[in-house]
Amino acid sequence: MKPREICERVQWMGAVDWNRRLFDSLIPLPDGTSYNAYFVQGSDKTALLDTVDPAMQEVLFRHLANVERIDYLVSHHAEQDHSGSIPFVLQRYGEARVVCTPKARTLLMEHLGLPDDRILTVEDGETLSLGDKTLRFLHTPWVHWPETMVSYLPEDRVLFSCDLFGSHLATSQLYAGRDPAVYEAAKRYYAEIMMPFRKMIQNHLKKLRELEFDWIAPSHGPIYDQPDWIVSAYEDWASDRVANQAVIAYISMHGSTEAMVNYLLDALAERGVRVQKFELSAVDIGKLAMALVDAATLVIGTPTVHGGPHPNVFSATHLANALRPKLRYAAIIGSYGWGTKAVEQISSLIPNLKVEVLGTVLCKGLPQAETFSALDDLAAAIAERHAAL
Ligand code: FEO
Repeated sequence: MKPREICERVQWMGAVDWNRRLFDSLIPLPDGTSYNAYFVQGSDKTALLDTVDPAMQEVLFRHLANVERIDYLVSHHAEQDHSGSIPFVLQRYGEARVVCTPKARTLLMEHLGLPDDRILTVEDGETLSLGDKTLRFLHTPWVHWPETMVSYLPEDRVLFSCDLFGSHLATSQLYAGRDPAVYEAAKRYYAEIMMPFRKMIQNHLKKLRELEFDWIAPSHGPIYDQPDWIVSAYEDWASDRVANQAVIAYISMHGSTEAMVNYLLDALAERGVRVQKFELSAVDIGKLAMALVDAATLVIGTPTVHGGPHPNVFSATHLANALRPKLRYAAIIGSYGWGTKAVEQISSLIPNLKVEVLGTVLCKGLPQAETFSALDDLAAAIAERHAAL
């Protein structure tokens, strides 16, 4: 694709990565992604906002073919998918200075070896004049890493939002409109990238609501031309509200834990609780993370392997703990052969989850009548708590 104009002398110059399937060697990318760079031409100066993943730097250089001068290279975020091509841009544009937060300066020097004398740091609220256009920088730490900022172009009412509001979505569409596919990708992205920093995101959203913008131009995915749509969605996802939903994440070796999970699922559904069930032998962790955005309860189901939880349960529980969803309740169920420390080990894995544990139901071998009775009690306890939400 060629550079695309958002408004007068403001252009998208990103790269669409249709074929990438994994991010950070962890996050599945079922729909690819994009790395959005933007070029702003003021009457006196020019600014390139971010670069692209170094694997796609030739795409950026094609966009820049007719750009003779870059005065400022704004780096909102030091992660390599946006900063990785900065050294090549600095090499070609000898006059360009990198503009970033003080924290980003250190990270860019450490991660990319940028020379100190090519970096200009900006404080929260500081502005940079390009002549008839101005960039105002707002520090927004932890919209993925601690050094991040966003920038605002008041003359054109554009917010360049860094990873915030992003979506891992390869598409030929420049604008998001109200496309449900973008909503799905943005929610998945929020779950995987932003959810651990939910409390800080709440504060950033309040600060950004004070600005007037017609476009939000994130670092990944389409540009929001109806920006209230995504800001409202974020306000909902990042809020303290939880839904009448339970997530059951489980694995079963010989069918006993599966039988318990299915019984509990039916018991919850009969009591009006929506349940999302994830079998962990081949789970899309992005979908599991998305389910945790709104859920009130997490039920972990595991057989016992070598005295503790199944390794896949161990891994999913560790991930849920790292993502810090706003869960209120949890429970552990499962079957074991002759002895188990599964409950103790799972409990030690979730210090970040501020949950009330509503029950543990374990059985030796096949579930019996008393197992199903205990699962009925657990379902009743979950439904009662959810009814009071
Ligand atoms: Fe898109 Fe945190 O990098």
